[in-house]
Amino acid sequence: MKIHTNITIFGGTGDLTFRKLLPALYTMFNTGKLPENSRIVIIGRRDYDSGSYRALANDWVKKFSRLPYSAETFDAFSGQIDYFRMDLSNPKDYRRLDEYFSKDDIGSHIFYLAVAPRFFSVIADGLKTVEGACQGKVIIEKPFGENLEAAKKLNEELESHFGPEQIYRIDHYLGKEMVRNIQAIRFTNPIFTDIWNSRYIESVQISALEDVGVETRGGYYDASGALKDMVQNHLFQILSIVAMEQPEVFNSTHMHTAQVEVLKSLSPVGQAEIEDTLVLGQYEGYREEPLVSPDSNTETFAGLRLYIDNERWRGTPFYIRTGKKTGTRQMEVSIVFRRSMPEVEPNVLIIKIQPTEGVYLQFNIKRPGDTDDIIPTKMDFCQNCDLVHQLNTPEAYERLLTACINSERSWFSQWDQIEISWNYIEQLKQLFTKKGLKVYPYAPGTHGPKESNEFLARTGHQWME
Ligand code: BG6
Repeated sequence: MKIHTNITIFGGTGDLTFRKLLPALYTMFNTGKLPENSRIVIIGRRDYDSGSYRALANDWVKKFSRLPYSAETFDAFSGQIDYFRMDLSNPKDYRRLDEYFSKDDIGSHIFYLAVAPRFFSVIADGLKTVEGACQGKVIIEKPFGENLEAAKKLNEELESHFGPEQIYRIDHYLGKEMVRNIQAIRFTNPIFTDIWNSRYIESVQISALEDVGVETRGGYYDASGALKDMVQNHLFQILSIVAMEQPEVFNSTHMHTAQVEVLKSLSPVGQAEIEDTLVLGQYEGYREEPLVSPDSNTETFAGLRLYIDNERWRGTPFYIRTGKKTGTRQMEVSIVFRRSMPEVEPNVLIIKIQPTEGVYLQFNIKRPGDTDDIIPTKMDFCQNCDLVHQLNTPEAYERLLTACINSERSWFSQWDQIEISWNYIEQLKQLFTKKGLKVYPYAPGTHGPKESNEFLARTGHQWME
């Protein structure tokens, strides 16, 4: 049989596959984004066959699919799913996999490693015996390792097997509609493009608050913390898109270069500045969460004040904050412009990323009536407030899988971005620990410790609420 694209998912019975990948593939099938004659091979240790796995997949797709579920479409879709049972560390099983693949004429391979990073090199090694595998693409998920050293080693191993251009590192924030929109808003509107610099912008805030706690992921999270879990990857990606110079062309190479330049220009922080750079918090009750150490000092909240040392941004602070159990789910980027005169409110542009997707602009008018008072007012555009748009906006994993099939690398993190961000964040954390700074407790349902407000107040600012 001729197969156009063969997508093999290692970790096929894990949460990511059930909640995200299968629903995304189903929708891609439904909307014609999955190339015809594709096949999805699910790799797992558990005792299923293709029939019983498809029945299981049916339940998850029904629950998590973006588009309305249809049994008929699911049947057609699931005809392309095969379950292949194997032990990831058994070389014989890779030979069986090779035999199974060799029965068909496969156009291209994509291997999705939806497994813990300790399996990445085991799988890469195993795939050496599978014909055509090393010409395939491989998708990996963060964490790319437990620390920078481990991540480097993993990266070298993967690159030596697949080659740097074949590795697609998922940062699912890059697949979010409004994250993709930041560059459109910045560069297609001269009212913003021309004043996107420190002369006109007083501060930038990137805020990602979550309602959920660590739930069942205590084991992973406790070794990671908010800085590594959210800041070093998702929020630094956003920071670099907000702050980058306009790429010559909007292709992967130019975008990537522009983003990396921002990360390289982050002002170095020394022992004397760390207190004004980083504030950390932990929600009360975190230490009682399953798989979390009872004396854990891991941060579930992080607030940062960063500066970018280049001509465009010198003097404008970039505030980043993220936290779990904050009583709200809200992710947005706020651009606070300098006031035209001290007594009026600033113009504020807020790019709302989730759950509301939209653009909010605050500006000043004269209070209506017989007065000259100046008051702030707003224009508030919501992109996903109606059902049609909700249904039309692809989910991040749909976009990312489609982008990988089409080799559009700008949708993925590149290794040098990861390395620079990781280095920077590790240095901050080391300075923080060396200085003996405290991880402040905060009550669940609040927006982090009160110290994070005092932290911003020190430079005359406050978090946008
Ligand atoms: C993941 C983090 O990468 O992103 C999680 O590991 C976090 O801790 C999640 O909850 C947030 O993603 P989203 O899409 O819900 O904002």
